[in-house]
Amino acid sequence: MNTETNGDAPLLDVADLVVDYRRGRTTFRALKGVSMTIAPGECVGLVGESGSGKSTLGKAILGLADVASGRITFAGSDITHAKGAARRKLAADLQVVFQDPYGSLDPTLTVGQILAEPLTASGTSRAAARTAVAEMLDHVRLPADTVTRYPSEFSGGQRQRIAIARALVRRPRLIVCDEPVSALDLTTQAAVIDLFIDIQRETGVSYLFVSHDLGVVRRVCHRVSVMYQGECVETGPNETITRNPGHTYTQRLLLASPVADPARQAERRRSWLGLRTAAGSPVP
Ligand SMILES: Nc1ncnc2c1ncn2[C@@H]1O[C@H](COP(=O)(O)OP(=O)(O)O)[C@@H](O)[C@H]1O
Ligand SMILES: [Mg+2]
Repeated sequence: MNTETNGDAPLLDVADLVVDYRRGRTTFRALKGVSMTIAPGECVGLVGESGSGKSTLGKAILGLADVASGRITFAGSDITHAKGAARRKLAADLQVVFQDPYGSLDPTLTVGQILAEPLTASGTSRAAARTAVAEMLDHVRLPADTVTRYPSEFSGGQRQRIAIARALVRRPRLIVCDEPVSALDLTTQAAVIDLFIDIQRETGVSYLFVSHDLGVVRRVCHRVSVMYQGECVETGPNETITRNPGHTYTQRLLLASPVADPARQAERRRSWLGLRTAAGSPVP
């Protein structure tokens, strides 16, 4: 596979993507023709309420959900239906960080083994893997002695740092981050968000950053796409979408995201109620 991007070509190009789930004898259309792009070094946020199809889009990109129609192009190659060896080869360039830092790390392995495995499995020598693992721990601001310890010895935030290190260890070009800070308390969340931003500056990796929380997306992303019932209803620069959105649904999502100042909160609640009355029927 040609893994070079040329000029301004997007790293990821999703075009008119449709994903159906089978539910008994009926099918449910979870994505109804979604299009989006991510440039090298860019962070694109995907927001929307629960069930809007955010994780399904991430899964389709990772080959974990079957695509009914449409096309996913990654670094110039069509990966829409990549399976088996082609999919395994992609893992060097395309990685994932999930929400649950407890379920995603094998509890029987030391952190050193967890981080070295993707490298040794793809042919890296043990010595080179050791060096790379030490470097990754440094990247995610964990102490060097982390390698000899087990996932259960760490807090949620530290485990998420380990999951990020594992995603980074093969130096991917895109990481799909599905609600990566949603399970963390607010202080830890802020620190892990800063880590995502620092890592992007240091490595130039791209992120598809999925979150139901517009406040989180506002802090990390360059551009934001808004999902509603399987469709992408609005895409634009962070500033526009998270402060002055055009779509009624995005406006409501924005007003529903918590703010620290109680007076501003009350004001937002008033405009949210106003919007609801103005819209009358269900959004959008
Ligand atoms: N494996 C599945 N089988 C059937 N329906 C599914 C499956 N996974 C997700 N769905 C449905 O698809 C819709 C989108 O889900 P999802 O992509 O997980 O949304 P989000 O991540 O935005 O919360 C939801 O209605 C959900 O119930
Ligand atoms: Mg989800």
